[in-house]
Amino acid sequence: MANLALVGLGPVGLTTAVAFAAQGHRVTAVDIDAERSAQVARGEVPFYEKGLEAALRKVLKQRRLVVARRMEDAVRPSSVMFLCVGTPPRPDGSMDDGPLRDAAKMLAAAWGDGRPRTVVVKSTVLPGTTESVVQPILESAEVPFHLAVNPEFLREGRALEDALRPDRIVLGVDGSATARILRNLFHSAKCPILVTTLRTAESVKHATNAFLAAKVSLANELANLCDGFGVEYDTVLQGLALDPRINPKFLVPGVGFGGSCFSKDVHALIAAGTKKGYRPQLLEAVLEVNDRQFLRAIAPLEEELGSLAGRRIALLGLAFKGGTDDVRESRAVPIARELMNRGATVVGYDPAAMNGFAKVVPEVHLAKSIEEALKGADGCILQADWPIFSRLTAKDFLAGMAQPVVVDGRRILDRKKMNGIRFHRIG
Ligand code: UGA
Repeated sequence: MANLALVGLGPVGLTTAVAFAAQGHRVTAVDIDAERSAQVARGEVPFYEKGLEAALRKVLKQRRLVVARRMEDAVRPSSVMFLCVGTPPRPDGSMDDGPLRDAAKMLAAAWGDGRPRTVVVKSTVLPGTTESVVQPILESAEVPFHLAVNPEFLREGRALEDALRPDRIVLGVDGSATARILRNLFHSAKCPILVTTLRTAESVKHATNAFLAAKVSLANELANLCDGFGVEYDTVLQGLALDPRINPKFLVPGVGFGGSCFSKDVHALIAAGTKKGYRPQLLEAVLEVNDRQFLRAIAPLEEELGSLAGRRIALLGLAFKGGTDDVRESRAVPIARELMNRGATVVGYDPAAMNGFAKVVPEVHLAKSIEEALKGADGCILQADWPIFSRLTAKDFLAGMAQPVVVDGRRILDRKKMNGIRFHRIG
C-alpha cells in the first residue's frame, strides 16, 4: 500500500482520493479552497455523486483519507502525488493551464527533502502540457521527480464505480522507472493498462472525448434526418449495430450533450490544433450540431401550440444529465432561455440541480415536484435522463397539464405508455 497525495478536491479529485483510500492506500488530500477542504474533512461531499458520501465517511473514519490544510502535509509523507485541478476554458475556448501551473509550483515548493517522488497529472490537459508546464516547474525547483499522466475516464453520477472498477487505465510516463512505480500502484486493476508517453496519454483523453462527442452529434444528425424521412431511429440504430464495426453505445439522440467536459475539451482541441496549423473541421461541426440541437425540442411545441407567447412550459431535468447536480453546459439552459425569448413561462424541476440552475437562469420558476411542474402546463420538455422521469406515463401528464404536449428530449419515456397525449421525441 502506498502513501499518496492528491491535489484538488473537485469531482475527479475527491472521487479518486476516496477510491484509492477504499483500496487500502493512505491518502492525504489538499485543496486551496479552505471551505471545501473543511467540508470534505467533515465527511460532506460538496456536489451530488451517488454513493460518494458514504464511502468518504468510511475512509475518513478509518484514517485512510486525511484532508490536510497545508501542501507540505500532503507532499512530505507521499511517494506518488496526483494533480487533479481544473483546466477551465478561457473566453476564446483555449485551455487555461493557470490552476495546473499554480498547483505544480506549490507542490514543488512543499517538497522539503531530497526524496524522489512521482508527480501524476490527472487533470485533463492538452497534448504536451505536462512537458511544457509541469516538467519545467519541477526542474527549476531542483527536486528529484518522476513524471506521469493518468487521465480520468469518470462519468458523473457513476464516478465512484468508474474509479473503483475502471475499464481501462492509461499511463503516460517519462521512463521505465516511472512505469514500474505506477504499474505497481495499479497492480490489482482487472482491466487493460496502456503504458505510453506523456503526450500520447494526454492525447488519448482528448481523442476519447472528441470521439464520444462526435458520436452524440452523429446520432443527433441521423435522428434529425430520420425525422425528415418519417423513419424510426431505433430501428435504424438496430440495423447499424448489425455491422460489427459499429458499436451502438453512446448513440442516443436528444437535445445534445452537456456537461463540463465534451464542449470544453473539444473547444480546447480545436483551438490548439488550429494554432498548430491544422483546423479540425469535423470537430467544429460536432459543436455546431450540438449548439443548435436543443431547438429540436422546441419546434414540436410550436407546431402543436402555435405561438409560445403566454404559454406555460414544464422543463423536467435541469442538470446536464440524470444522476448529477451539475448544470455546466446543461441543455436546459438554452432551452429555458429560448422558451422565455419566445414569451413562454418556464417551470423547471430537477431532483438535484435546482439550486445550481437558479443561479444560472434565475427567471425560471422552480417547482417542488414533477406534479407541480406539470400542473396547468401547455407543454413539457424532458431534458435529463433521471430514472424518476423514465417512469412517467400518459396518466401522469394528463392528470395535471392543461394541454398534454410532451417532448422527450432524451428518449427515455416508453412510447407504448403515451397513448392519449401528443407525444414527440427526437428521431
Ligand atoms: C464524460 C465521459 O463519458 C467520461 O468518460 C469522461 O471521463 C468525462 O466526460 C470527463 O471527461 O470528465 P460525463 O460528462 O459525466 O462523462 O457525461 P456523459 O455520461 O458522457 O454524458 C455527456 C452528455 O452527453 C450528457 O448530456 C448526455 O445526456 C449526452 N449523451 C450521452 C447523449 O446525448 N447521448 C448519448 O448517447 C450519450
